[in-house]
Amino acid sequence: KTYKVGYMVGSLAKGSINRKLSKALVKLAPPELALQEIAIGELPLYSYDYDADYPEVARRFKQAIAEVEAVLFVTPEYNRSIPGALKNAIDWASRPWGQNSFSRKPSGVVGTSPGSIGTAVAQQHLRGVLCFCNSPLMNTMEAYIQFTPDLIDDDGNISNQGTADFLRKYMQEYAVFVQRVLTVLPRED
Ligand code: FNR
Repeated sequence: KTYKVGYMVGSLAKGSINRKLSKALVKLAPPELALQEIAIGELPLYSYDYDADYPEVARRFKQAIAEVEAVLFVTPEYNRSIPGALKNAIDWASRPWGQNSFSRKPSGVVGTSPGSIGTAVAQQHLRGVLCFCNSPLMNTMEAYIQFTPDLIDDDGNISNQGTADFLRKYMQEYAVFVQRVLTVLPRED
Protein backbone atom coordinates (compact mmCIF):
# COMPACT_ATOMS: atom_id res chain seq x y z
CA LYS A 1 0.00 0.00 0.00
CA THR A 2 1.07 3.56 -0.73
CA TYR A 3 0.42 6.30 1.80
CA LYS A 4 -0.25 9.88 0.72
CA VAL A 5 1.76 12.31 2.79
CA GLY A 6 1.33 16.08 2.65
CA TYR A 7 4.33 18.08 3.70
CA MET A 8 4.35 21.69 4.81
CA VAL A 9 7.44 23.84 4.62
CA GLY A 10 7.42 26.37 7.45
CA SER A 11 9.45 28.97 5.56
CA LEU A 12 8.20 31.37 2.88
CA ALA A 13 11.72 32.43 1.88
CA LYS A 14 12.77 31.86 -1.73
CA GLY A 15 16.14 30.49 -0.67
CA SER A 16 14.74 28.46 2.22
CA ILE A 17 17.09 25.80 3.52
CA ASN A 18 14.07 23.92 4.85
CA ARG A 19 12.63 23.80 1.33
CA LYS A 20 15.91 22.24 0.21
CA LEU A 21 15.58 19.76 3.06
CA SER A 22 12.01 18.94 2.01
CA LYS A 23 13.23 18.17 -1.52
CA ALA A 24 15.88 15.88 -0.08
CA LEU A 25 13.28 14.07 2.05
CA VAL A 26 11.05 13.51 -0.98
CA LYS A 27 13.99 11.91 -2.77
CA LEU A 28 14.96 9.73 0.17
CA ALA A 29 11.45 8.57 1.09
CA PRO A 30 10.69 4.85 0.73
CA PRO A 31 8.40 3.91 -2.20
CA GLU A 32 5.37 3.38 0.06
CA LEU A 33 5.24 7.12 0.78
CA ALA A 34 3.85 9.45 -1.90
CA LEU A 35 4.80 12.96 -0.82
CA GLN A 36 3.20 16.15 -2.06
CA GLU A 37 3.55 19.68 -0.78
CA ILE A 38 0.67 21.47 0.91
CA ALA A 39 1.46 25.17 0.45
CA ILE A 40 0.88 27.59 3.32
CA GLY A 41 2.04 30.85 1.75
CA GLU A 42 -1.23 32.11 0.25
CA LEU A 43 -3.32 31.90 3.41
CA PRO A 44 -4.45 35.21 4.92
CA LEU A 45 -4.02 35.75 8.64
CA TYR A 46 -6.55 33.59 10.46
CA SER A 47 -9.40 35.00 12.52
CA TYR A 48 -12.44 33.15 13.82
CA ASP A 49 -14.52 35.72 11.95
CA TYR A 50 -13.86 33.45 8.93
CA ASP A 51 -15.28 30.37 10.63
CA ALA A 52 -18.78 30.87 9.28
CA ASP A 53 -17.49 31.15 5.72
CA TYR A 54 -13.92 30.07 4.98
CA PRO A 55 -12.34 31.75 1.93
CA GLU A 56 -11.64 29.56 -1.07
CA VAL A 57 -7.88 29.43 -0.42
CA ALA A 58 -8.47 28.11 3.09
CA ARG A 59 -11.04 25.58 1.90
CA ARG A 60 -8.56 24.27 -0.62
CA PHE A 61 -5.92 24.10 2.09
CA LYS A 62 -8.16 22.04 4.39
CA GLN A 63 -9.20 19.86 1.46
CA ALA A 64 -5.54 19.18 0.66
CA ILE A 65 -5.00 17.95 4.22
CA ALA A 66 -8.17 15.85 4.05
CA GLU A 67 -6.82 14.12 0.94
CA VAL A 68 -3.60 12.93 2.56
CA GLU A 69 -3.21 10.20 5.15
CA ALA A 70 -0.38 11.84 7.08
CA VAL A 71 1.45 15.13 7.35
CA LEU A 72 5.11 16.04 7.65
CA PHE A 73 6.32 19.42 8.89
CA VAL A 74 9.66 20.67 7.63
CA THR A 75 10.23 23.84 9.58
CA PRO A 76 12.81 26.44 10.46
CA GLU A 77 13.18 27.88 13.94
CA TYR A 78 12.38 31.58 14.20
CA ASN A 79 13.10 33.18 17.56
CA ARG A 80 13.14 29.80 19.26
CA SER A 81 9.69 28.84 17.98
CA ILE A 82 7.91 27.98 14.75
CA PRO A 83 7.47 30.69 12.10
CA GLY A 84 4.26 32.70 12.32
CA ALA A 85 3.28 31.57 8.81
CA LEU A 86 3.27 27.94 9.92
CA LYS A 87 1.34 28.62 13.11
CA ASN A 88 -1.17 30.57 11.03
CA ALA A 89 -1.60 27.62 8.68
CA ILE A 90 -2.09 25.24 11.59
CA ASP A 91 -4.71 27.56 13.09
CA TRP A 92 -6.61 27.58 9.78
CA ALA A 93 -6.47 23.80 9.58
CA SER A 94 -7.62 23.33 13.16
CA ARG A 95 -10.88 25.23 12.68
CA PRO A 96 -13.86 25.74 12.37
CA TRP A 97 -14.49 24.08 15.72
CA GLY A 98 -15.31 20.41 15.21
CA GLN A 99 -13.57 20.30 11.84
CA ASN A 100 -9.96 20.00 12.96
CA SER A 101 -8.05 18.72 9.93
CA PHE A 102 -5.30 17.17 12.06
CA SER A 103 -7.44 15.01 14.30
CA ARG A 104 -6.10 11.43 14.23
CA LYS A 105 -3.82 12.32 11.32
CA PRO A 106 -0.29 11.07 11.96
CA SER A 107 2.49 13.64 11.75
CA GLY A 108 6.24 14.01 11.78
CA VAL A 109 8.44 17.00 12.48
CA VAL A 110 11.86 17.78 11.03
CA GLY A 111 13.85 20.92 10.41
CA THR A 112 17.18 22.51 9.69
CA SER A 113 18.99 25.61 10.86
CA PRO A 114 22.55 26.90 10.56
CA GLY A 115 22.66 26.85 14.35
CA SER A 116 23.98 23.77 16.08
CA ILE A 117 20.75 22.82 17.83
CA GLY A 118 19.10 22.47 14.41
CA THR A 119 15.54 23.74 15.20
CA ALA A 120 15.20 21.64 18.36
CA VAL A 121 13.34 24.35 20.28
CA ALA A 122 10.94 25.10 17.42
CA GLN A 123 10.24 21.39 17.01
CA GLN A 124 9.48 21.10 20.70
CA HIS A 125 6.94 23.94 20.41
CA LEU A 126 5.41 22.34 17.31
CA ARG A 127 5.06 19.04 19.13
CA GLY A 128 2.99 20.76 21.80
CA VAL A 129 0.74 22.34 19.18
CA LEU A 130 0.24 19.07 17.29
CA CYS A 131 -0.48 17.26 20.54
CA PHE A 132 -3.34 19.68 21.22
CA CYS A 133 -4.53 19.20 17.63
CA ASN A 134 -4.89 15.46 18.36
CA SER A 135 -2.31 14.43 15.77
CA PRO A 136 -0.44 11.24 16.66
CA LEU A 137 3.16 12.39 16.37
CA MET A 138 6.23 10.27 15.77
CA ASN A 139 8.29 10.44 18.98
CA THR A 140 11.45 8.83 17.72
CA MET A 141 13.34 9.38 15.47
CA GLU A 142 13.98 13.05 15.88
CA ALA A 143 15.87 14.96 13.19
CA TYR A 144 17.70 18.18 14.05
CA ILE A 145 19.77 19.04 11.02
CA GLN A 146 22.51 21.66 11.23
CA PHE A 147 22.71 23.24 7.81
CA THR A 148 26.31 23.77 6.76
CA PRO A 149 27.02 25.60 3.47
CA ASP A 150 26.13 23.43 0.44
CA LEU A 151 24.80 20.59 2.59
CA ILE A 152 21.75 20.30 0.31
CA ASP A 153 21.37 21.86 -3.15
CA ASP A 154 18.19 23.32 -4.68
CA ASP A 155 17.23 19.93 -6.13
CA GLY A 156 17.52 18.15 -2.80
CA ASN A 157 20.86 16.46 -3.37
CA ILE A 158 22.77 15.98 -0.09
CA SER A 159 26.54 16.38 -0.15
CA ASN A 160 27.19 14.55 3.14
CA GLN A 161 26.71 10.77 3.05
CA GLY A 162 26.11 10.47 6.79
CA THR A 163 23.32 13.05 6.67
CA ALA A 164 21.77 11.34 3.64
CA ASP A 165 21.82 7.96 5.41
CA PHE A 166 20.32 9.45 8.55
CA LEU A 167 17.49 11.20 6.70
CA ARG A 168 16.74 8.05 4.67
CA LYS A 169 16.41 6.16 7.96
CA TYR A 170 14.19 8.94 9.31
CA MET A 171 11.81 8.59 6.36
CA GLN A 172 11.77 4.80 6.71
CA GLU A 173 10.90 5.11 10.38
CA TYR A 174 8.24 7.69 9.57
CA ALA A 175 6.71 5.29 7.02
CA VAL A 176 6.56 2.53 9.66
CA PHE A 177 4.98 4.96 12.11
CA VAL A 178 2.32 6.13 9.63
CA GLN A 179 1.46 2.57 8.73
CA ARG A 180 1.13 1.58 12.40
CA VAL A 181 -1.05 4.54 13.32
CA LEU A 182 -3.37 4.01 10.37
CA THR A 183 -3.71 0.33 11.26
CA VAL A 184 -4.82 1.17 14.80
CA LEU A 185 -6.74 4.36 13.98
CA PRO A 186 -8.23 3.81 10.52
CA ARG A 187 -9.75 6.84 8.86
CA GLU A 188 -13.42 7.30 9.50
CA ASP A 189 -14.30 8.33 5.95
C1 FNR B 1 16.20 33.02 12.53
N1 FNR B 1 17.17 32.05 12.66
C2 FNR B 1 17.18 31.24 13.79
N2 FNR B 1 17.92 30.08 13.83
C3 FNR B 1 17.87 29.29 14.92
O1 FNR B 1 18.51 28.25 14.94
N3 FNR B 1 17.10 29.61 15.99
C4 FNR B 1 16.35 30.73 16.02
O2 FNR B 1 15.66 30.98 17.00
C5 FNR B 1 16.38 31.60 14.89
N4 FNR B 1 15.63 32.73 14.85
C6 FNR B 1 15.44 33.38 13.66
C7 FNR B 1 14.45 34.37 13.55
C8 FNR B 1 14.20 34.94 12.34
C9 FNR B 1 13.08 35.95 12.22
C10 FNR B 1 14.94 34.58 11.20
C11 FNR B 1 14.65 35.18 9.85
C12 FNR B 1 15.93 33.65 11.31
C13 FNR B 1 18.06 31.72 11.54
C14 FNR B 1 17.40 30.69 10.64
O3 FNR B 1 17.68 29.40 11.13
C15 FNR B 1 17.92 30.82 9.20
O4 FNR B 1 17.55 32.09 8.70
C16 FNR B 1 17.39 29.74 8.29
O5 FNR B 1 17.84 29.97 6.97
C17 FNR B 1 15.86 29.70 8.33
O6 FNR B 1 15.37 28.63 7.57
P1 FNR B 1 14.70 28.90 6.14
O7 FNR B 1 13.68 29.98 6.32
O8 FNR B 1 15.83 29.33 5.23
O9 FNR B 1 14.13 27.58 5.73
